[in-house]
Amino acid sequence: MENSCKNVYITTPIYYVNDVAHIGHAYTTIIADTVARYSRLIGADTFLLTGTDEHGQKIAQSAEARGKTPKEYADEISGKFRKLWDDFDITYDKFIRTTDEEHKIGVQKAFETMYNKGDIYKGDYEGYYCVSCETFFTEKQLVDEQFCPDCGKPTNIVKEESFFFRLSKYEDRLLKWYEENEDCILPRAKKNEIINFVKGGLKDLSISRTSFDWGVKLPESINEPKHVMYVWLDALMNYITALGYGTDEKNMNYWPAKIHLVGKDILRFHSIYWPAFLMSLELPLPEHIAAHGWWTRDGDKMSKSKGNVVNPKEVADAYGLDAFRYFMLREVPFGQDGDFSQKALIDRINSDLGNDLGNLLNRISGMSGKYFDYKVTSKDVERFHKKELDEVNEILANVESYIYKMQLNRYLEDIWKVLTIANKAIGDYEPWTKMKEGKEDEAMALVALITNIMARVALLLDSVMPEKISKIAASLGIKIDTVTYKKLLVNKELLEDTTITKVEQLFPRIEELLLEQAKPTDVSKTETEEKSCKNESTVLEEDNLITIDKFFETTLRIGTIVEAQEVPKSSKLLKLQVDLGEGRNRQILAGIKEYYDASSLVGTQACVVANLKPAKLMGMLSEGMLLAARDENGLSLVRPETSKKSGTKIS
Ligand code: ME8
Ligand code: MG
Repeated sequence: MENSCKNVYITTPIYYVNDVAHIGHAYTTIIADTVARYSRLIGADTFLLTGTDEHGQKIAQSAEARGKTPKEYADEISGKFRKLWDDFDITYDKFIRTTDEEHKIGVQKAFETMYNKGDIYKGDYEGYYCVSCETFFTEKQLVDEQFCPDCGKPTNIVKEESFFFRLSKYEDRLLKWYEENEDCILPRAKKNEIINFVKGGLKDLSISRTSFDWGVKLPESINEPKHVMYVWLDALMNYITALGYGTDEKNMNYWPAKIHLVGKDILRFHSIYWPAFLMSLELPLPEHIAAHGWWTRDGDKMSKSKGNVVNPKEVADAYGLDAFRYFMLREVPFGQDGDFSQKALIDRINSDLGNDLGNLLNRISGMSGKYFDYKVTSKDVERFHKKELDEVNEILANVESYIYKMQLNRYLEDIWKVLTIANKAIGDYEPWTKMKEGKEDEAMALVALITNIMARVALLLDSVMPEKISKIAASLGIKIDTVTYKKLLVNKELLEDTTITKVEQLFPRIEELLLEQAKPTDVSKTETEEKSCKNESTVLEEDNLITIDKFFETTLRIGTIVEAQEVPKSSKLLKLQVDLGEGRNRQILAGIKEYYDASSLVGTQACVVANLKPAKLMGMLSEGMLLAARDENGLSLVRPETSKKSGTKIS
């Protein structure tokens, strides 16, 4: 276990207090919380940091627009973020605010250190500034001579005295760092973008402003009272000031960070400016800077003007916090964009959580209750189920690496493979038959196998769904702690004798949307908004990705083949009658004659595209299509691993 003895420091971005939290903020924070919980479970000394970013022109303007002082406004919104993370049981060890006194002192100390080193000099800034992104741009970088290349909003011309950081000096050292540390920026595709950007040449960075005063003052020793620090310098420093840099350094032993988790919108700041600042401060660099993708809603960009922003609290209240956490982590491969829709969430709840996980627990309590008065002993598991046990242990031995590469979707996929092994074993070994045959020890071995698998899964899912897992743990009579983790997952031991307690259904089936659908208000788009939308859709096309809703336009169902005949005079076609649970059979013509004997197909199942327009082939109607895969070794139908009811939806 690579991390069990080391310190693990995990950070989220500190969120701007110009807006309330939405699903995107929740996503970042939930990933960070999951990795932190996991790290604690495996015994690592863990520190999770989150907080709010409260200085800068954007916040000053938002406050003014509401008739508040920046500090009053920041107090209010920062409080809301904190309340949300508390409601969400986010296990942060510190919630930092950039208006905290210790933070300001730490940032001033850092500025002074870089200044004394000769990395900061005074000059004049002349260029463009996007207040929304708090970013400087050159004329060349603008879109249509005016608009921010990142967010599409109009920029301002800025001409003022400014201090500069010698970013250009660090170009080569940055490139060397990227090169020598394969996973310093995740995912890899994003790393290449950053490398290309740096290779394009870095200009020195303006790091102070004089045209407004809502920011950290420069250190007194520099005696420049007109200047406040550039908000990104101030903000990035939070990662060390939170550990006491420049004040009480007692937590600096957590540095360097294991993971700075960020959205792709702010990767550049974190993977170029931040390491350069750290180099200047002669501090070690973080292990990973990991950038996740963007969430949209029902395929649309979320924005306040469209009124379609997903409120994470509403979703969690309606569907359950744990289900929401699971959905977010499972639904998108790390780094890719994701789409939130209630339908996709409901499908995950009903199928992954209800069927695969919740039901398995019910089966454990059902079988152990019926046959063994809820007592389970592992004594014969290895005798009868060594194969399954080895398979499970092997899959689970590799899942940790996914956690620290932020591939939580793959982590969960592998855990679900293990659940499939468990569910399949019940069908394969039929403990009810064993009981009838008087083979009680075999039936017990099977029930114990499933219980052991569930216990391992529970330990690994605790960081994702802490509340539901505590119920599973109580039902199995196990503790979720480092000792149990080491026993079951590191040493691969089996459970001691245990007594199962019956629990209520963990994930009751959801039949309908629980929240009112967002009605996209018909806002006529401004020119700039359209521009930024355009940018996004080209990104999507390049990746060749579709939204989940697009996928669900295709209805896939399990069909049972009840009749199969050769089509005379056709070398390819078989004529099938397929039961899709509709009360009548469908006729489907399939080009599989070279690979399957008609008679061998009867009684088997296949995956059917059920909403294809009917077509005529050789004068005969075909009402659907079977899924199949062909390579150089021939063709196989795609089928469910265990038999499913005819018509079961595939999702
Ligand atoms: O950038 N999808 O703060 P911020 C996914 N204060 N993630 C999203 C998202 C979406 N639609 N919208 C926001 C700042 N996020 C700075 C950070 S750090 C030293 C300073 C998440 O309030 C994502 O993590 O604009 C993104 O990076 C972050 O919110 C930006 O939050
Ligand atoms: Mg932002």
